[in-house]
Amino acid sequence: MDISTDVLVIGSGAAGLTLALKLAPHCRVALISKGKLAAGATKWAQGGIAAVLAADDTVESHIADTLDAGAGLCDEETVRFVVERSKAAIDRLIASGVPFSREEEFEEGFGYHLTREGGHSHRRVIHVADATGKALQKTLEQQAREAPNIEIFEHHMAVDLMTRRHLANGADQDGCFGAYVLDMAAGKVRRFQAKATVLATGGASRVYLYSSNPDTATGDGIALAWRAGCRVANLEFNQFHPTCLYHPKTKTFLITEAMRGEGAILRLPDGEAFMKRFDARAELAPRDIVARAIDHEMKRLGLDCVYLDITHRDADFIVGHFPNIYRRLMKVGIDITTDRIPVVPAAHYTCGGVVTDLAGRTDLAGLYAIGEVTHTGLHGANRMASNSLLECLVFGDAAADDVLAKRNSLADPPEARPWDESRVTDSDEEVVVSHNWAELRRFMWDYVGIVRTNKRLERARHRVDLLMAEVQDYYGHFRVTGDLLELRNLLTVADLIVRSAMSRHESRGLHYTLDYPEPAADAKDTVLGAG
Ligand code: FAD
Ligand code: SIN
Repeated sequence: MDISTDVLVIGSGAAGLTLALKLAPHCRVALISKGKLAAGATKWAQGGIAAVLAADDTVESHIADTLDAGAGLCDEETVRFVVERSKAAIDRLIASGVPFSREEEFEEGFGYHLTREGGHSHRRVIHVADATGKALQKTLEQQAREAPNIEIFEHHMAVDLMTRRHLANGADQDGCFGAYVLDMAAGKVRRFQAKATVLATGGASRVYLYSSNPDTATGDGIALAWRAGCRVANLEFNQFHPTCLYHPKTKTFLITEAMRGEGAILRLPDGEAFMKRFDARAELAPRDIVARAIDHEMKRLGLDCVYLDITHRDADFIVGHFPNIYRRLMKVGIDITTDRIPVVPAAHYTCGGVVTDLAGRTDLAGLYAIGEVTHTGLHGANRMASNSLLECLVFGDAAADDVLAKRNSLADPPEARPWDESRVTDSDEEVVVSHNWAELRRFMWDYVGIVRTNKRLERARHRVDLLMAEVQDYYGHFRVTGDLLELRNLLTVADLIVRSAMSRHESRGLHYTLDYPEPAADAKDTVLGAG
């Protein structure tokens, strides 16, 4: 069955839900997610949401910290736009019932506990203990499920955007008119036609072997927008979170930066607190600096991991602030009140993405992008901790405003051709997909990781080219599956990352290369496409 709606929202994390909820009283929304609604990164967020809330904090200070973390590449207008809207975004969440942690002993004033993370010169991260994303996702999701105008499609995966080349009857019109969507239960691709389409598909960190991200983070929105002719920017800036649990018996699990904000110390196996050797801010330096320092020490000493130590704090304080991490690590025999935590960096956040303006508009008429899938100019060369959920909330709201302002003039989309399966058959060798997926993620980790060189990037490019040719051939012959679509998208994103990294002849923020170890005199975005 094909679907026709006013607004198609692809993705149901903080960004997609914020937008859908604001639109719902005014128009029909189809909200799709390739998994359950909570399948994205939002549910996993730990530390919290950065906002100017404390009496002694200022918008100017939050802006200055963001610009500093971004290593000269943030767009100051965007940073101001987001930070100025931070308090209103949090007020909306409080009003909608997100149970933020309270200050234990407050008498008057704001009343919520604010934690601290890397790069922030103030306590400004509002949170729900150490599971902020879970509470946020639950609150927004419940409201979306109750909203009569939001039609929800779980396990529906966008395959490609509908653009001019897909139109039926020789129609000739530029723009985005919805998407082809794989109904994963039925194995059928359907047309979702819409007056406006919004990409809220999250990031691409699963392009790396080790990642803090859920399986959904395969860069689909970036690849969809790229294939539809949109510009993408700054994809070489892949953020590695410094502290993910290193344990053979468990999947990668994040240990929040807020733990360092509350005093945890990074140590070598002999107990040395090494971060001061790298930056005066020590454990609270921006993430790129901390992750690189850990990588350096691990390589220098041949270590499997370093250690995060919060044992000097009172046990009640530790369990009170980090109850989920405490419980989770207890299951693998680590008591964080008495034991050091073995940690390593892992791919965490995609700073670049689809280029948008301040209303979330992309290069293609009728197509918006919001959240981690975007490049808005907020993060520059390195995202400051807890600025990403804030970006989802602010741009979800701003893009909804833009859609609403235009809604009376939005035309019905021209008809697109049905999905053509006449020349494909069921796959005869699923192993091609699983093998290529593993190979891609391994060489991206080895060659396009925390420290890069021209030679490593060249090797990666060669392998991406080979895999792309193979997967394109496969795509042309076999019926699409979720795995095949994700692999195809990951390869597109890997290609864009490698090309962006090769074109940056300097080290800046998250892009560090031994061939050009210094920053260039002037900071420029890497923009690919449209010309
Ligand atoms: P997501 O929440 O990732 O949602 C993406 C959605 O798109 C999902 O519903 C997915 O199913 C859907 N989707 C993807 N592709 C398709 C497709 N082809 N078709 C249909 N649907 C699709 N940030 C902070 O600010 N503070 C934190 O404390 C914090 N902690 C974090 C901890 C962890 C472990 C992780 C992984 C991230 C953390 N981040 C944090 C980053 C932050 O969580 C993400 O940047 C943010 O949640 C992204 O939200 P989003 O709405 O853009 O995308
Ligand atoms: C964390 O809690 O350390 C993650 C915060 C973020 O990615 O912004």
